[in-house]
Amino acid sequence: MKFTPTEDQQAVQATARDFATHEVLPKAAEIDREHRHPAELVKRMAELGFLGIAVPEQYGGSGLDHVSYVLAMEEISRACASTGVIMSVNNSLVCDPIYRFGTEQQKQEWLTPLASGKLLGCFALSEPEAGSDAAAQKTVAEKQADGTWVINGTKNWITNGPVADVCVLFTMNDKAAGHRGITAFILPMKTPGVRVGPPDDKLGIRGSKSSQIFLDDVRLSQGHVLGEVGGGFKVAMSTLDGGRIGIAAQAVGIARAALEDALAYAQQRRTFGKPIAQHQAIQFKLADMATEVDAARLLTLRAAWLKDQKLPYGKEASMAKLYASDVANKAAREAIQIFGGNGYVTEFPVERHFRDAKITEIYEGTSEIQRLVIAGHLAKGG
Ligand code: CAA
Repeated sequence: MKFTPTEDQQAVQATARDFATHEVLPKAAEIDREHRHPAELVKRMAELGFLGIAVPEQYGGSGLDHVSYVLAMEEISRACASTGVIMSVNNSLVCDPIYRFGTEQQKQEWLTPLASGKLLGCFALSEPEAGSDAAAQKTVAEKQADGTWVINGTKNWITNGPVADVCVLFTMNDKAAGHRGITAFILPMKTPGVRVGPPDDKLGIRGSKSSQIFLDDVRLSQGHVLGEVGGGFKVAMSTLDGGRIGIAAQAVGIARAALEDALAYAQQRRTFGKPIAQHQAIQFKLADMATEVDAARLLTLRAAWLKDQKLPYGKEASMAKLYASDVANKAAREAIQIFGGNGYVTEFPVERHFRDAKITEIYEGTSEIQRLVIAGHLAKGG
């Protein structure tokens, strides 16, 4: 067992850290304050090859592995969780399913520009009444006599929705078949009948634009079906297994931000004649935060490594996301406590970490859903 990243992985980590420190971090507070989509950072991530890290080079990606993806995600999310999730959705929820389920033609047409960052993607599974119960899809796809599909419905909280060029869309085409009646499509967002709602006004990750997507008699040819007709639920579930590794890495990044900011503050803030970092009450907090950040990172790297080895990783991905999201929330809460009054005002970054951390317990499956997934694997002996 080796705990040392390979040379390639270290190079990706170093590039991501340099980019995050010098280009992302200085803008993070402003992106949050202004609720601004960081288009210039997305462009830079495309140039750095961060939008399709694990996609083979022949399809516009960087040809690296998921461990590299996790290392880069942590660095970028440590600087700005909004920028991190934009990257994660494109890599995990858009490029990955098109790579695994797409036809050669779909890979040429859609994966190549998405992985190279010429286009940006979104993933539309959730609906007003289908969040945790993802199989309860009400968006309907009906096949016409000429073979065209006509799609009607509403999608909710779609990360990247307002800025995406392409959407991996889930629909119900056979209600009686339940989850076996769900079909995935590759939807160009400029298709007539697609309307994007106003950006959601969110607690955190305010630079990540999300919205409703309304589909009104949207017509797509058979060539836009991703995977098999009726195979969409498996596309969604297997994609989310991988996505949860990305969100775990985002949570590790947020937790690390809370820890690093709290440590730096504790070393210069003085009470009772000494830096608060020399008070045991603060030392215990920092020690727990550091231990938990490491444990969360190791769970996340294990899940990514399993995916790279083509071994089962669904349970481990859920464990990583469950634990890392909890750690991010605890670390951000403790960081505010260490900052005291300064932790509660926007002049300092830890209240942003606190707001950003919460979503990691919700999207790509709530913590309750992660527990269901883990327990399901345990019941099957996995
Ligand atoms: N991979 C492949 N297939 C899977 C699978 C997986 N990980 N998990 C389940 N399946 C298959 C099962 O094998 C089964 O198939 P068969 O019937 O053909 O054997 C089928 O799917 C149904 O399985 P379940 O009965 O377990 O499904 P369920 O309806 O009970 O749902 C669930 C299970 C875990 C609760 C699921 O609905 C779920 O994960 N819900 C959460 C949804 C979610 O994570 N949404 C996130 C939205 S995207 C997002 O958040 C993006 C963003 O903003 C950044």
